[in-house]
Amino acid sequence: MNPLASQLNEIVEKENPHVFAMLSEVGRQLFFPKGILSQSAEAKQKAHKLNATIGIAKEGGGAMVLPSVMDSVCGLTAEESLTYAPSFGIPQLRAAWRDSLFQKNPSLAGKSVSMPVVTNGITHAISIFADVWVDPGDVIVLPDMMWGNYNMILGVRRKAVVRQFNLFTEVGGFDVDALEQRVRAEAETHDKVIVLLNFPQNPTGYTVTEDEADRIVAVLTAVAESGTNVIAVCDDAYFGLVYEEGILKESIFSRLLDKHPRLLGVKLDGATKEMYVWGLRVGFITYGCPVSGEPAGFYEALERKTAGGIRGNISNCSHLSQSIVLKAISDLAYPVQREQKYELLKNRAHKVKAVLADPKYSAAWDVYPFNSGYFMCIRLKTVNAETLRVHLLDRYGVGLIALGDHDLRVAFSCLEESDVQELFDIVFQGVQDLS
Ligand SMILES: Cc1ncc(COP(=O)(O)O)c(C=O)c1O
Repeated sequence: MNPLASQLNEIVEKENPHVFAMLSEVGRQLFFPKGILSQSAEAKQKAHKLNATIGIAKEGGGAMVLPSVMDSVCGLTAEESLTYAPSFGIPQLRAAWRDSLFQKNPSLAGKSVSMPVVTNGITHAISIFADVWVDPGDVIVLPDMMWGNYNMILGVRRKAVVRQFNLFTEVGGFDVDALEQRVRAEAETHDKVIVLLNFPQNPTGYTVTEDEADRIVAVLTAVAESGTNVIAVCDDAYFGLVYEEGILKESIFSRLLDKHPRLLGVKLDGATKEMYVWGLRVGFITYGCPVSGEPAGFYEALERKTAGGIRGNISNCSHLSQSIVLKAISDLAYPVQREQKYELLKNRAHKVKAVLADPKYSAAWDVYPFNSGYFMCIRLKTVNAETLRVHLLDRYGVGLIALGDHDLRVAFSCLEESDVQELFDIVFQGVQDLS
């Protein structure tokens, strides 16, 4: 093992031996290399005369640029956009995102979390999380309705075993008992159980109530207390888009952090959906858990392992994207602009609820609970979902997503409020055509 990895392992083990035990085999081996990177950093400070360390081309004291490239970059310098960003992400963005986590989640106040490490969107955050924390054969607990890509990232690529539980109770709430049974059953045969929590959820658009969130936290805490290591991964891709009272507005991550040394919270979030910049690919990984001594060194060790994973994977994330996101977050108009878009999406969700309240649809489908995010789902009663999907596309030019035999997912995030009634009437007509 590289001595730098051993040093990081010693720090993690000393401050929280359970978290050390949670690391994957790869996670234990990971470190952030010194070599060229640290020599370049040192030269940046001290090489006032000539600095011939970094792997970019320079000219006239700045980065070498092609005007044909810079023509498309307005408001940022070549240094802010074209040069390499650190594997950890640019420091100002990491600090700004960390501050924003505390603003958006007031109950984080007084709790210690790592600095966020920048990833290439949340998909990449999940993949890097998997490298650092998931071994082949490890169990990941997920609901039976979930984002399909988890299977690809965690199951196919990382060889984890995805174990599912029933998502909704009969009365339309989160089935905490089913989650508890699944986690407890897995804890009987595994020293470590990974639970992936995604609110607002894809595909259902469901976010738990405050009470359900408390019960989930109590279940995970109890399992940790009984001696199983629990990693609670919070995929907060659609964070902030909650449209009803009484449901969880903050990330469940905030509630998990200080509960038990065997309970590690991992927050995966990003600008992709929160800031409507899907293709810029800016995501973050942030850690939180009880630490025996000084948290700074412990978190830095986890950040170095995570950034080492990124270094060995894509090296670093787009500097241009990070600078755009940083500039937007720092813009005084940003909160107002974000609020405006939130209102638009909220109105669409409420319109969907109002339209679907019409009893005429009840012979054709049931509506799954939804209160947040981009999506909602219906459960068809009389026709096959894929058959209907193809029919709607061919006959009416309407595109929806079929999930399994019965479910259709509607991304109301893509619909104007004025299109909602027509959309569901066409789906209803489609069902009648096929019945
Ligand atoms: C639940 C969930 N997590 C993560 C992602 C991926 O987000 P990103 O575009 O940041 O990779 C998606 C995108 O569809 C999603 O629905």
